[in-house]
Amino acid sequence: MTIKSTWSSRWMFIMAATGSAVGLGNIWKFPYMTGENGGSAFVLMYLGCVLLVGLPVLIAEIMLGRRGSGSPVHSMRTVAIESKRSPHWAWLGFAGVATSFFLLSFYSVIAGFAAGYIEKAFTGEFSGLSAQKIGDLFDDFQANPVTVLGWHTAFIIMTALIVGRGLREGLEKAIGWLVPGLFVILLILVGYATTTIGFFDGLSFMFKPDWSAINGSSFLSALGHAFFTLSIATASMLIYGAYLSPSASIPRTALIIAFLDTISALLAGIAIFPLVFSHGLMPDQGPALVFKTLPIAFGHMGGGEIIGGLFFILLVFAAITSSISMLEPMVAWVMGRWKISRVWATVATASAAWLFGVGSALSFNIWQDYRLFDKWNYYEIVDSLVSLVLMPAGGLLLAIFAGWFMSRQASQQELSLSAGPYQLWRFLIRFMAPLAVGIIVYNAF
Ligand code: PHE
Repeated sequence: MTIKSTWSSRWMFIMAATGSAVGLGNIWKFPYMTGENGGSAFVLMYLGCVLLVGLPVLIAEIMLGRRGSGSPVHSMRTVAIESKRSPHWAWLGFAGVATSFFLLSFYSVIAGFAAGYIEKAFTGEFSGLSAQKIGDLFDDFQANPVTVLGWHTAFIIMTALIVGRGLREGLEKAIGWLVPGLFVILLILVGYATTTIGFFDGLSFMFKPDWSAINGSSFLSALGHAFFTLSIATASMLIYGAYLSPSASIPRTALIIAFLDTISALLAGIAIFPLVFSHGLMPDQGPALVFKTLPIAFGHMGGGEIIGGLFFILLVFAAITSSISMLEPMVAWVMGRWKISRVWATVATASAAWLFGVGSALSFNIWQDYRLFDKWNYYEIVDSLVSLVLMPAGGLLLAIFAGWFMSRQASQQELSLSAGPYQLWRFLIRFMAPLAVGIIVYNAF
């Protein structure tokens, strides 16, 4: 089924795709990965990976979506047939939809933590508490299955309420204020960070090159994160591309999206690290950085309720504009495949993702000790499946398809670039991206 609906403007597409790209990955994961991997060295590698590998694949995915202009499965099949290739490439579209499904199932659990923390921050629950007590607060929050499940449920319902209303009435209306809103909050937080005594320590942690911290494993984290942060290989960009009008320049819009995504991750770091250093805290606490470390700073600064509350609202805004881009590809596919209305397709897919995510919600409490081979719990299995297997493998296949299987004439026409830039894109997509992703996939096993 070919899709006729389109974004109301090119700018709307840029906001939607930027909303998809800017998510927990930017505000939660990027800062803690930077903290764990020694700061500036990681930032530099990440920038390199976004530019040389992430961006070419992002361009490819949007291009395949627009060329196929259908659900992810339909688009891949259409483009493959047009290029006289096997229609089985449709499976790559399906793999993207499946990746979105698994990702949404646990993304909403983490987003739920942030939602639950908004109230804690605004009501001053962190005020004057010791580091130990703040750590316990988060442990207690996670340990309660009812709380974690409740927020997971609320977050999925919120996502479904937006997607169920459709492209113009649902996605565009929500994105139209959530994305500008998130940038405004981010700038307020950065403004606040400039007034703290740790501001320059935070900046130098992020930007003063320290080459000794570069090693193989930080390179892999940077590369994996470049895909995650640009929402690649989850069919989100395939479906958003399908709604893009034929006249918009894909390379130019993709460049803007990657730029805004990168800037927001850097700004999140600039907002966070000065607070960490101002309060004599450590930046290398991993995933607990925003839930255990930052609240210590919020609890000990003037106006910490407001700054803390805004910070968690920022996380939730960023997460919603990402989660709708995970649900949309599934909904589009189910609508076309079973010929049902958008509302029913949304109810069905959101409920399935919710149900599958219950296991992740419980992995933080009552199922914590159910582990495969005594090692990974349910959440860790699904998370690793997505970030270490499905996304890199999907990205690799997208690059191979766009570079080696799609007809040159079709990609040239769709990208409408002059000879030099087209050659550059083609080189990156045919050689650079497969090589780099091959390295991640190889290392995942
Ligand atoms: N890019 C989002 C983030 O950084 C995650 C995401 C991945 C969103 C895939 C949609 C699809 O959090």
